[in-house]
Amino acid sequence: MGKALDGVRILDFTHVQSGPTCTQLLAWFGADVIKVERAGAGDITREQLRDIPDVDSLYFTMLNHNKRSVTIDTKNPEGKLVLEALIQKCDVLVENFAPGALDRMGFTWERIQELNPKMIVASVKGFGPGPYEDCKVYENVAQCAGGAASTTGFDDGPPVVSGAQIGDSGTGLHLALGIVTALFQRVSTGRGQRVLAAMQDGVLNLCRVKLRDQQRLERTGVMKEYPQYPNGTFGEAVPRAGNASGGGQPGWILKCKGWEADPNAYIYFITQAPVWAKICNVIGKEEWATDPEYATPAARLPRLKEIFAEIERWTMTKTKFEAMEILNKYDIPCGPILSMKEIAEEPSLRKTGTIVEVDHPLRGKYLTVGNPIKLSDSPTEVTRSPLLGEHTEEVMAELGYSLEQISALRVAGAI
Ligand code: COA
Repeated sequence: MGKALDGVRILDFTHVQSGPTCTQLLAWFGADVIKVERAGAGDITREQLRDIPDVDSLYFTMLNHNKRSVTIDTKNPEGKLVLEALIQKCDVLVENFAPGALDRMGFTWERIQELNPKMIVASVKGFGPGPYEDCKVYENVAQCAGGAASTTGFDDGPPVVSGAQIGDSGTGLHLALGIVTALFQRVSTGRGQRVLAAMQDGVLNLCRVKLRDQQRLERTGVMKEYPQYPNGTFGEAVPRAGNASGGGQPGWILKCKGWEADPNAYIYFITQAPVWAKICNVIGKEEWATDPEYATPAARLPRLKEIFAEIERWTMTKTKFEAMEILNKYDIPCGPILSMKEIAEEPSLRKTGTIVEVDHPLRGKYLTVGNPIKLSDSPTEVTRSPLLGEHTEEVMAELGYSLEQISALRVAGAI
């Protein structure tokens, strides 16, 4: 079966996490992704957090499936010529170097346009234009600068960063959308364009409900669904809300049977208004369904702590899976706190290809997260990440280089 992005060639100049997340997705949708790395070194993540000596790390393999790897020294004059040939052959150049690195290499937007006016040049940067535009940025910096850290955690504790890599992988997703959109526009304009996804912007986009709350706070001075209501105080900025739900239906994380020994024996419980009577029945507080002190969402807001404590008395008598089964029968929204171990072993995720087992010639079998976006006409087959420079000769031959020329470039240290 064909793939959605069949025929699209990506010059993948990305490294670490944000850019590789983007190009891996494009590869899964069928693009030919040619990853350009420095000879002898490669993407720095190949050797970071290694669990097996001298074998590409899981950090690298899990972000670089379905790609080809070529080594080019883009600071070597002959290496630059190879990169130029690639620019002429590809549709999109994706990069996430520090600000200015591509220009310093000699590949300004103007130069790339000269070489290939149809080229789309897509970049991840830490910040957009402004005071921090020249800064190097990693995941947690973006989470802090994009509003995630100040709004995550408990009110009486410090800011907290999330385990979800919203700065890196989140921005990679934004960039991928920008690229396919630019490819779509190119169909009618015939021109390439620049695509920029700044990590601060990407994180903020994912935190937009908190900017909503900032404005609500400024107007009303209070947010009734936050745990600070009614006994705490609100300051000038959106406070951290613990595990309160971000929407209009109050929720909290509650202990389940076994919580004393298992750090993940918890469930997220939402007291959704339309099922309030069912919740009362399940937890054995039938009288709350009609008691005016508890019967309406507005009446319940100042009592949420007490209500969740009562629900928790019930959830503590069940495992998170037993609670799920009972609550789902009544359409009461809830979610088990699943550990990574439980997720890795979940058969349904294996079945859908969301968790995939991949075989690697040096490390053997390992698990990875497959394509989370499923297209019915463009199924994803996850193939292993390339070894460093595994496809250099193959790609050079496609560019028209002879075997002799390839050997000479090797000797010159250009590839
Ligand atoms: N041949 C020769 N040189 C190469 C090369 C190649 N194939 N590939 C990269 N280089 C060079 C670059 O030209 C650059 O050289 P310069 O500094 O002399 O201009 C250098 O390698 C390294 O680039 P840089 O991006 O500065 O790497 P770093 O390890 O110092 O910084 C980041 C890493 C992630 C902080 C930085 O790249 C960054 O801020 N990127 C944008 C934001 C981002 O994506 N952050 C999240 C990463 S998950």
